[in-house]
Amino acid sequence: MKHLIDIKDLSTDEIDDLIVLAKDIIKNPENYSTKCNGKKLATLFFEPSTRTRLSFEAAMLELGGHVLGFSSADSSSTSKGESVADTIRVVGYYADIIAMRHPKEGAPLVASLKSTVPIINAGDGGHNHPTQTLTDMLTISIEKGKLDNLTIGLCGDLKFGRTVHSLITAMVQRKNIKFVLISPKELVIPEYLKKEVLDKNNIEYIETRSLEEHINELDILYMTRVQKERFFNEADYLRLKDYYILDEEKLKKARKDLCIMHPLPRVNEISTEVDDDPRACYFKQALYGKYIRMALILQMLEIR
Ligand code: CP
Repeated sequence: MKHLIDIKDLSTDEIDDLIVLAKDIIKNPENYSTKCNGKKLATLFFEPSTRTRLSFEAAMLELGGHVLGFSSADSSSTSKGESVADTIRVVGYYADIIAMRHPKEGAPLVASLKSTVPIINAGDGGHNHPTQTLTDMLTISIEKGKLDNLTIGLCGDLKFGRTVHSLITAMVQRKNIKFVLISPKELVIPEYLKKEVLDKNNIEYIETRSLEEHINELDILYMTRVQKERFFNEADYLRLKDYYILDEEKLKKARKDLCIMHPLPRVNEISTEVDDDPRACYFKQALYGKYIRMALILQMLEIR
């Protein structure tokens, strides 16, 4: 049995297969509408979510399966002191596959060690978010027509932004990828990512505070929210939360074929005026998340 805890659990070929399958689901949804008849997905969300939980649930429903689960720790027996390990053992009796989000880094890994059914990490603390990365890669593949020869700007909270960590880890496996890492000095990417992922794979990257100076170089601009829930003090969050606000003025310098992405939720970091810009891809990205999760459920349940 295979779990998806880290994007590194999937090879480049496996990711490519998922992307091909997701594109086929987009083209021919009727071919997939009964594939999961009789199967159940449990969504165990110990932390808030809109897109990840609901797109997983929509994915399973559109495959003809069923969903069950909870959307907060408060509404589960975790609030009475039950451990993740015990919760997972029991939910394995009720569901064929589990998508789990937890505020503690490593919780889905612990769950996978006790689980009798496949576990999907739907985000663990500031660590990883592999299904967002699959979403992002499907988006890049559709919108740019390729997954190589790209200059990718990552902007905002690169310290706590788990989607950024997983995306960098996956994209370093592709050919000729350059990163422009744009953040305040307090929110630079963790040292382990620089040493063990970027440097180890000889990836070209720069770190900068300035979005304006580099926006013209980018094929993709991946904006991120400052992760309020990971800050230890409110004052730091308030000081940094509006550090970058992408607006039409800044976009005047950007390429005409720039792809603007954001895992969402957005707070202030992209002005709503950008939503009508043809380069804005972030709402399409949320839609693609449903299709790649359909593909993932099929692969993990070994349904063809
Ligand atoms: N992108 C993402 O994980 O969104 P949610 O927190 O709404 O699931």
